[in-house]
Amino acid sequence: MSGEAKAGVRIFDDLDKLSRAAADEFASLAQQSQAAGLPFRAALSGGSTPKRMCELLASQEFSSKVPWSGVHLFQVDERAVPPDSPESNYRMIREAMLSVVPLPAANFHRMKAESRELDAAASDYEAELRAVTHAGANSWPRLDLIYLGMGGDGHTASLFPGTPALSEETRAVSPNFVAQMNMWRMTMTRPVLNGAAHVIFLVSGEQKASMLRKVLKDPDVSPPLPAQLIRPSQGTALWYIDRPAAKFLQE
Ligand code: 6PG
Repeated sequence: MSGEAKAGVRIFDDLDKLSRAAADEFASLAQQSQAAGLPFRAALSGGSTPKRMCELLASQEFSSKVPWSGVHLFQVDERAVPPDSPESNYRMIREAMLSVVPLPAANFHRMKAESRELDAAASDYEAELRAVTHAGANSWPRLDLIYLGMGGDGHTASLFPGTPALSEETRAVSPNFVAQMNMWRMTMTRPVLNGAAHVIFLVSGEQKASMLRKVLKDPDVSPPLPAQLIRPSQGTALWYIDRPAAKFLQE
């Protein structure tokens, strides 16, 4: 597999190669779960970066490697918009992948962030997540694989700097009002993200290079940037980065 490996960072020539590696990892981990007789439980972020990976997972080359009947797919976060909105993360995932792959319909867990009762919808989603991961009342849901993105302000999931859900330590899934965007979101919270077995950040484009350097190279940022707060306690975090985004990492 291409990509220079540094501590937790793999640099790829471009988004397509990055996405192929990410799709390959999804298939490989799903096969490992199947071999162990276990379901494979993963979560996808929205935004634009994961789209190419989703398209590849829907292609014959990758889809044929994934034991879809044993896969459960969750959303990391969602905007408070209807599922057919151009802003909807679900819509992106549906159009790029769900409409093609043989994933049982009940095995895609959509965040109903369009609900007028967003708080209750977040609690319902948490209950669904807990049920599928068999998380007890005193433990956090543990996912096998979570794909995260990183925004230009260092946010990840819908955990934006200075927003309430960033410091949430009780709920696994929470509503979050993002003042900087004047927008409500639903998001998985840090305890769930940090409870995963594998977290992979997908970061592409020169416009992310400056923030990426700060996130990966500046431990003294205060307060820490949301993406800096994702360190799985019993798992791994990897950064899949394309060369334009890695522009300032190789100094
Ligand atoms: C969202 C995403 C968000 C995303 C970053 C990066 O709902 O917007 O979940 O956290 O991962 O904003 O977005 P891009 O991939 O579009 O740069």
